[in-house]
Amino acid sequence: MADMRIAAGNMADMTREAAYDEHADWYAAYVQGPARRHTAQTAEALSELLGDGQGQCLDLGCGTGIHADTIRALGWQPVGVDVSIGQLQHARQMLPVAVADGGRLPLADSSVEAATATLVHTDVADWGRVVNEVARVLHYGGRFAYVGVHPCFVGPFAKRGAGEVRLFTGYWDRSVQFSGPGMAEGIRPRVGVRHRTLADVLGALPAAGLALDAIKEVGSDGFPELLAFRALKRNE
Ligand SMILES: C[S@@+](CC[C@H](N)C(=O)[O-])C[C@H]1O[C@@H](n2cnc3c(N)ncnc32)[C@H](O)[C@@H]1O
Repeated sequence: MADMRIAAGNMADMTREAAYDEHADWYAAYVQGPARRHTAQTAEALSELLGDGQGQCLDLGCGTGIHADTIRALGWQPVGVDVSIGQLQHARQMLPVAVADGGRLPLADSSVEAATATLVHTDVADWGRVVNEVARVLHYGGRFAYVGVHPCFVGPFAKRGAGEVRLFTGYWDRSVQFSGPGMAEGIRPRVGVRHRTLADVLGALPAAGLALDAIKEVGSDGFPELLAFRALKRNE
């Protein structure tokens, strides 16, 4: 795993996704600093939905490897892939990593016991393709645990009004967006965000042949900020 490299021909697809390269040092500090509450909530949901197990667990879009210890604490051997070499410079201190596009994983069919991803459906160019790849590389009986921003309540369509008021408009807009009220700081102005609807996020599971096994909403601000699920690749 540690020596895997993407084929040169894949690089053309990665222009935008490697956007994290120049923000990786900032991101490493952000997830442990201003976003630490969000990071802790993500880790807790990931831990609950992934659960105990043994064998390799692919962390797709692992970023700086912030959740490697959470995965390891459950008994799994985490291995990370990400398109951003800058992010992986941090992650390699936390887990074995490889540069790869989650939509074109350099892994054999049915080769990992589990897979996870956190906060990637708003970054990847093609979420359906990523979920298809997860389904392909998972063992039969394997599980995929995902935690992402809640597609119904968090995104460019959820504009902040006065106080706790949120104004929802533009839910169907899936274009990459770099701005929004209250978004001068954080990920969005740096690398942009691609909103996916609830049906986009969950509909990718049955389309890939994965079965939804558990679902959880996490929030502390009067509405859910995270949507988490576990999906299974059923035995043949
Ligand atoms: C918001 S960060 C999340 C990182 C980490 N999972 C976390 O929870 O902190 C999104 C990550 O997805 C990666 N990414 C974007 N598109 C990707 C793709 N097609 N394949 C693999 N990783 C991708 C980015 O480089 C970035 O590290």
